[in-house]
Amino acid sequence: MRAVVYRGPRQVEVVEVPDPKLQEPTDAIVRITTTNICGSDLHMYEGRTAVEEGKVLGHENMGVVEEVGPAVTRIKVGDRVSVPFNIACGTCRNCLEGWTSFCTRTNPTEGMDGAAYGYANMGPYDGGQAEYLRVPFADVNLLELPPGTEHENDFTMLSDIFPTGWHGTELARMQPGDDVAVFGAGPVGLMAAHSALIRGASRVFVVDKEADRLRLAESIGALGVDLSAGDPVEQIMDATDGRGTDCGVEAVGYQAHDPSGEEHPELVLDNLVQVVRTTGGIGVVGVYVPQDPEAADEGAKEGRVGFDYGTFFTKGQHMGTGQAPVMRYNRHLRDLIVAGRATPSFIVSHELSLDQAVEGYERFDEREDGWTKVLLRPGQAA
Ligand SMILES: NC(=O)c1ccc[n+]([C@@H]2O[C@H](COP(=O)([O-])OP(=O)(O)OC[C@H]3O[C@@H](n4cnc5c(N)ncnc54)[C@H](O)[C@@H]3O)[C@@H](O)[C@H]2O)c1
Ligand SMILES: [Zn+2]
Ligand SMILES: [Zn+2]
Repeated sequence: MRAVVYRGPRQVEVVEVPDPKLQEPTDAIVRITTTNICGSDLHMYEGRTAVEEGKVLGHENMGVVEEVGPAVTRIKVGDRVSVPFNIACGTCRNCLEGWTSFCTRTNPTEGMDGAAYGYANMGPYDGGQAEYLRVPFADVNLLELPPGTEHENDFTMLSDIFPTGWHGTELARMQPGDDVAVFGAGPVGLMAAHSALIRGASRVFVVDKEADRLRLAESIGALGVDLSAGDPVEQIMDATDGRGTDCGVEAVGYQAHDPSGEEHPELVLDNLVQVVRTTGGIGVVGVYVPQDPEAADEGAKEGRVGFDYGTFFTKGQHMGTGQAPVMRYNRHLRDLIVAGRATPSFIVSHELSLDQAVEGYERFDEREDGWTKVLLRPGQAA
């Protein structure tokens, strides 16, 4: 089959690789209909992870079940499914408590709980930027979708970023009526803003410096805050009569930078501590890592990001972090899509064939104007 493989910093290639096979009786093989490029893939693409050369990338996958192992009883061949990016066993302590993003059994990497497809340190699993994908514990992991092709571009957000954005608002313990600050207007930030509005936020401020992304935020009724036009904290303080917001979501991650492009991994955490009111919550879904050899400062190379903890404590704020447990939310979010109450496809900018993945990575990585969310269609001719 054809697949997107990692070759080295800023190098991916579409090549022939062996078809995936059932390895365990609980596995399924999914024929991929849509697979997205994620901001998380860019950490690997830019050489900022320990991902091994030759890895098939892709953790945002959906498709149609092609084959099931003899122990799969719920999922059937022909089912249209969304594949959560977390690979969960369904029976360990964390899975049973709903924390499928921290499954204790599926990732053999020392010191790591939680597995994913096609991702650095997340276990030996190939990704789905390919024609086919092997899914472990298929009955546990796969979410059934209505058959056919309707809502394909909405449903494809269910594997990661729509639940991740929702999780950001959940970690922040957002309440209806809240003013919310979302940092980052990439796909994850835009999904957090969409989620906050669905959940009844009064006002959602979305901070970025990319004009096209801020326009998208405004298209759904959020308020764009352009950080290249001045301190985003001051802009939000002015708009809230000095009160700040009730809560906030971090959707940027460890490569946070100032308008000149210089990286400051603590910058967005500091901004959120300043802009969120006393006792407010901060949901951090942007990724931070324990090792980042390319980091700008010595501490950050070891994952030590020095944010303003003193003010955070003094303000009595709380913070939730980590990979989103997709399965906790994806059923409800699917139903919101079917009911017409959620349309996460508003962020889709490009629908490419698998063979155009190289260009897709390059241009999305450049945050080129208009390249917000790239979908790949393995079944589509180049
Ligand atoms: N927790 C999870 O489960 C989970 C899932 C998916 C993605 N992620 C992470 O979420 C983050 C965002 O993903 P994405 O796909 O939206 O990526 P992205 O890189 O497309 O978007 C990040 C955005 O942040 C903006 N930005 C940079 N510095 C900023 C600053 N100082 N203030 C405000 N905005 C700033 C960039 O301009 C960009 O638009 C990444 O770190 C990704 O790895 C986490
Ligand atoms: Zn993703
Ligand atoms: Zn588990």
